[in-house]
Order: sequence, then C-alpha cells, then structure tokens
Amino acid sequence: MSTLEFIPLHPTFVAEARGVDLRQAQDEATLTALHAAMDRYGVLVFREQPLTDAEQLAFAQAWDGNLHTKTGISALTQSRLGNEALTDISNVDENGDPLDSSDRRRVYGLANQLWHTDASFENPPGRYSLLSARVIPPVPADTEFADTRAAWDALSPTEQARLLPLTAHHSIAHSREILGFSFSAEERERLHGNPQPLVRYSKVTGRRALYLAAHASHLLEMPVAEGRLLLRDLMTHATAAPFVYRHVWQDRDLVIWDNRTTMHRARPFDDKHHRRELRRVTTLDIERA
Ligand code: OGA
Ligand code: MN
Repeated sequence: MSTLEFIPLHPTFVAEARGVDLRQAQDEATLTALHAAMDRYGVLVFREQPLTDAEQLAFAQAWDGNLHTKTGISALTQSRLGNEALTDISNVDENGDPLDSSDRRRVYGLANQLWHTDASFENPPGRYSLLSARVIPPVPADTEFADTRAAWDALSPTEQARLLPLTAHHSIAHSREILGFSFSAEERERLHGNPQPLVRYSKVTGRRALYLAAHASHLLEMPVAEGRLLLRDLMTHATAAPFVYRHVWQDRDLVIWDNRTTMHRARPFDDKHHRRELRRVTTLDIERA
C-alpha cells in the first residue's frame, strides 16, 4: 500500500491526494487524514478513481454521512440515474445523446456556469460535494474553484466588521432566473430557498469564509438593490484571479470540495458535439454529535 500524500495545486488551497484507492479507503485512519487535508485545502483532487455509482455513494456515505437527495433539477423532474442522492452532471439524455439546446434540463444545467456553492439554498445547506468524472470530452470543459477563505482574509478589518452580521437569501430559482429560466408558481413556491449567514466560521479551523453564490438574491438587512450590488462586488472580489484554481478533468477523477469555503463554476464547451458526464453526491451540513 502506497502512502497517502498531498501535493498542493495552488498557493492558497487545493491539493491532489495521492496513494489512495477510495473504494478501499473507508477506514478511520485514512478518513481522518483526508478530512484534515480537506479542512486545510478546501478542494481535494483524486486521480484514477474508477468509481461505479454504488461505490461513489458508499464512499460519500463513509466520508460524511448525510447525503442530500432531490438535488438540483431532480426536485423538478425524475433523474435517469435512479438514485436521488446522485446528481446527473451531464449533457446527455437517457440514450446517451446530447440534450437539445432548448431542453429544460440543459438550460437548467447551464446555471452551473455561474459561480456558486452547492445547495446553499437548502436548510441545512450543502457541506461537501463529490464529483466523479465518467466521460470527459477531448476539448476543454473545465471547472474553476474560488477560495472564499482567502477572499475573506484579504478584506480590510473595516469591511469584515461590516459584513459579519449580514444574512443573504439563497434560492435556486434566483440563479436560474438570472439565465431566463422560468418557473411555475407552484415550482417557485417549492424552491423558495433559505437565509444563510454571509460569513461562515469554522470551529475546526478557526477560519472565516465569505458564503456567496449565484443563488444569493439579496441581503435581509438592506433594500434589495443595495444588497444585490454588495453581493456583486463581493462575488467579483472573491473570484479574482489570485483566488481561483482551474481544474482540467481527466476520466476517473474524483474531486471533493467544501461548499462552506469555496465556490465553483463550470466553463462552457461545445456541448452539441461532445459528451461530458459526471456524477455528483452532495452531503448536508448537519452538526455532528
Ligand atoms: C456541480 C457543478 C460544475 C461542472 O457538479 O455541482 O457545479 O463543471 N459542476 O460540471
Ligand atoms: Mn455545483
């Protein structure tokens, strides 16, 4: 058995974990070492992890227990994958063919190209996401990550003091509406969203992070327009080049990120002519006993 090691991939966050097969890494010692690295790096990249759906779900369960079901569009339509904890991050239909430009699932999935953190619109919100690459196209179809702890640290003490008491309202309907997606009144009601602190604190690391996403529509403490402008400014700040890592996918990659300390977004590619298939499991930020 090779030894577990972590190779940093960016000056402030993200590491590649080497020397581990996640199908067999569900013992206490390995999980503890991986969790410590996760607290430090916020994003962990694992290469050559040929996971089946069942293996991905089993690892996610061992990693963090509470799996988020009915994620994303599965709240609206039936998933082709047959398991509500598994989100279909792909551009293909049941037959494996690229979705039509106008397909509702495709348009909905395009919102992953807006900077966001997963399931911030839920209560409890998302904690970790585990994204497994099954089919990666031969053209760039990358995912970018932003370090929202480093972005917080870079603010002045005065700015930090102003932001600390604020609360944002997050709803998945908001991020989809930005792109012109419309919901029925009944869907809108179901996707009402939830308030979240604008700044998150971790007792484990003692660090704070900006908690931002395209899902954040306004701040509860101020008029919509002012809150939206402040959110935009903060998004621009947090996604400035020094805080961003770009992940270039290979087949069989598994990337795990902490939704409390990072944002991410998909980058566009020619999805009419190339298949791209990944599977995501997200866990919920439920306090541990
Ligand atoms: C996700 C997501 C980005 C991508 O799976 O939560 O936002 O590049 N994915 O597919
Ligand atoms: Mn996402």
